[in-house]
Amino acid sequence: MKQTTRVGLVTSGGDCQGLNAAIRAVGKALHQFLPNVEVYGMYDGYRGLIDCDYKYMEYKDFSGIITEGGTILGTSRQRFIPGKMIVDEEGNDLMPNMLDTYNRLNLDCLVIMGGNGTQKSAKLMMDAGMNVITLPKTIDNDIWGTETTFGFQSAVDIATMVIDYIHPTASSHSRIFVVELMGRDAGWLTLHAGLAGGADGILIPEIPYDFDKIVEGIEARKRTGRNYSILAVAEGAVSSTDKKLSEDERRRLTETMGHSTISYRLASELQAATGQSTRVTVPGHFQRGGSPSPYDRVMATRFGVAAARLIRDRQYGYMVAIQDGVIVPVPLEEAASQTKFLDVDTNLVLRTARDIGIFFGD
Ligand code: F6P
Repeated sequence: MKQTTRVGLVTSGGDCQGLNAAIRAVGKALHQFLPNVEVYGMYDGYRGLIDCDYKYMEYKDFSGIITEGGTILGTSRQRFIPGKMIVDEEGNDLMPNMLDTYNRLNLDCLVIMGGNGTQKSAKLMMDAGMNVITLPKTIDNDIWGTETTFGFQSAVDIATMVIDYIHPTASSHSRIFVVELMGRDAGWLTLHAGLAGGADGILIPEIPYDFDKIVEGIEARKRTGRNYSILAVAEGAVSSTDKKLSEDERRRLTETMGHSTISYRLASELQAATGQSTRVTVPGHFQRGGSPSPYDRVMATRFGVAAARLIRDRQYGYMVAIQDGVIVPVPLEEAASQTKFLDVDTNLVLRTARDIGIFFGD
């Protein structure tokens, strides 16, 4: 009798475009590669594993979902102590519950789709004895070991569209616009959308800004007859002065000044310094919404199929990645080891942006 392979699917952390395309690819490819396979979808990310809340996925469940945003399985964020434990609100170790579900379902492997934090927690699960393969998903593109993540390009498309829409109103009113984009502490999304959307200045966490340099950039535009300026500002952007403070101290300082985010603070400071009317636009979770772009559908499908291939070959403990255009397995240990920030000295998109005169506040 042929042995049955049992696979659990988990979508964890913040959602992004392409998750359903990846679920579809893993499911369909597993059925192509293995004569006897059972796939179980965990509800709401790790929550489903912890509470043994899952769905047996029939082949038809993998159809008709490539265009859908979000995740059909649901997701959640889990607290974890880096390098140590996945915990609940009270700090209780949740690994025994997860292990229990894994064993109860007699799983051969879990395919976990997640961002930076999820790679780290998946590594903990691997250390606890579960077979794990991960896929890199996030709009932040900050996962170590892969050139790109699925979700990133779709978010770039949306963020670019936002900046595109700001141009006419900024120009009509001769205003400064600060467009705040997601990405946590990494500037990938802001850099790419800023360049594509024709932003005049781009502020990213990797380049702490000097406020006077931003004003200088805006004034220089005015001198050459351009009456408006658009700044693409990463939510994690920070001034060189504030960089010396802890994250908590920075947040408190911004709040004490009466602003909810760095963009509002920056906008009010710019209006005071330039005398020019300044507005803020925050697309927020719009950036994670909608249908995945064709690029992300292809990317998520390639990642998903590669995961199924690893399962067929019983190769566990890897994150599927893309390097030099080729899909490769990266040891999970390596993928979880650090965050992928923009290298400001070597990044070619950054250099290109500088070469056409976009200012970075440095
Ligand atoms: O990691 C993805 C991301 O969208 C970040 O860019 C952003 O900082 C964060 O998640 C928002 O988290 P939440 O959806 O929990 O508000």
